[in-house]
Order: sequence, then structure tokens, then C-alpha cells
Amino acid sequence: MLRRLHSDQPASFAFTPANLAWAEAQKTKFPEGRQASAVIPLLWRAQEQEGWLSRPALEAIADMLGMAYIRVLEVATFYFMFQLKPVGQVAHFQICGTTTCMICGAEDLISVCQDKIAAKPHAVSENGMFSWEEVECLGACANAPMVQIGKDYYEDLTSDKFAALIDDLAAGKVPIPGSQSGRYAAEPAGGLTSLKDYETGKAAYNASVKLAVDLGDTVKRIDGTEVPLLTPWLGKAAKPKVKAKAKGSKKEA
Ligand code: FES
Repeated sequence: MLRRLHSDQPASFAFTPANLAWAEAQKTKFPEGRQASAVIPLLWRAQEQEGWLSRPALEAIADMLGMAYIRVLEVATFYFMFQLKPVGQVAHFQICGTTTCMICGAEDLISVCQDKIAAKPHAVSENGMFSWEEVECLGACANAPMVQIGKDYYEDLTSDKFAALIDDLAAGKVPIPGSQSGRYAAEPAGGLTSLKDYETGKAAYNASVKLAVDLGDTVKRIDGTEVPLLTPWLGKAAKPKVKAKAKGSKKEA
């Protein structure tokens, strides 16, 4: 798929004061003259702030790091973790469609997206809350099929569970990432067959889920009043219409 900058660009970009301080600190992690090494974290922070990467954002980061604009554009267009056009203001779903996930039901998850969000990838839902796309293997094949939202993985999904997850997000809830089937991590689906002592005294969540829960920013653009926060490219933070659909997936048996 061609990854190009969006046709409708904002006039400017600026990091918030807190994000600017964070970005300046990232630059100090690298030896003098190697500040370009901070390009991915800065792009990611800009995306977390705005939801997607605009041309002014790429240019601002290039200036901060002393890079040619084209080099920042090359990075932003190469990695599909970076969004180059507006996404849903609550969540952008990245559905893994590679072999293991495909065999285990990724196409059903895509059908759920088409039913509940938008018929085409990269289109924002009518209520402005969600968007989706199919991506290549995200490295969680043992827990297929899976979906990435922001920094977090939601694994061992079925179409019903995924539809319920979307409904929870629409209702302002923040679902806990990780396996959605009750698996702790990537152990056999039927339970441990060796190293069974591991069950004793283990923490409530595996390390990546615990980190997400501790950070508390899994779906960071929801505030405590269940109203999505202001999303610059969509204008006012009016309470969105929640599109109710009874069915979860066309392909669900
Ligand atoms: S095939 Fe989906 S995570 Fe690897």
C-alpha cells in the first residue's frame, strides 16, 4: 500500500510544553551529532499527542533533530506504526492479517471492523471514534488472532470478543490488554504442560499487560467523564453519536 502524506494538512505543529521537554530529553540520550537516532521516539510522541503525523509535525521534528525533511518522511512512511492521516479519536485498530492470525480468524475480525466502524480501512467511523487497518505480523503469533491499539496488544480474540471490546471502548471503558481468552501469556491454550511451578505466586498480569495497566494510558484520549477528549483534526469535543449495531460479525457462526 502506498503511504503518502494526507491531502489536508494543518497549518502548524507544536509539541505541548510537557512533550517538548520530554523530546528535548530524548535528544540527550545520544552522542553529539547523533540526535537523528531520536527520530522514532519523537515521531511516536507527536502521534500520541495529535493522533496522526502531519507534514508540519515531520518538519518540526526534522528541525529539532537537524535532519533533512526527506529523511524524517522516509521513516514516517516506512513504518506502519505511524499514521499519516486522521484516525478515530478513541482508537485505531491494527488487525494482524498475516498467516497465523489469518488461519485463526483475522478475516472475521476485519468483518467486525467493516460492520461496526467503516467498510474501508483508514476511514473514520461515522461517530468519529474509530478507524481500522490490516497490518502485517505484529509478533504475537502464539496468541493469534490479535489486534494492536496504540501501544497495546489484544490477543486470542474471537469476533464476539472483538465486537464487545469495540462496544466497551465506545462506552468509555478501557479494556485490559493481553489475552482475551484467559491465557496468562503465550502458554499452551489448554494449560501448562511443563514448568508448572510457574503457576505458584505469579503476578496478576504478565509483564507487558502489567506495564500497560500501571501506565494507565492504554486508550489515553478518553477522560474520566467518558467523553473523548478534544481531537484537533475533528474540531470540538462534542459527545459522539454511538452507532449501535446488533450483530458482531457477518461471518460469526
Ligand atoms: S501472524 Fe499475527 S501476530 Fe504474527
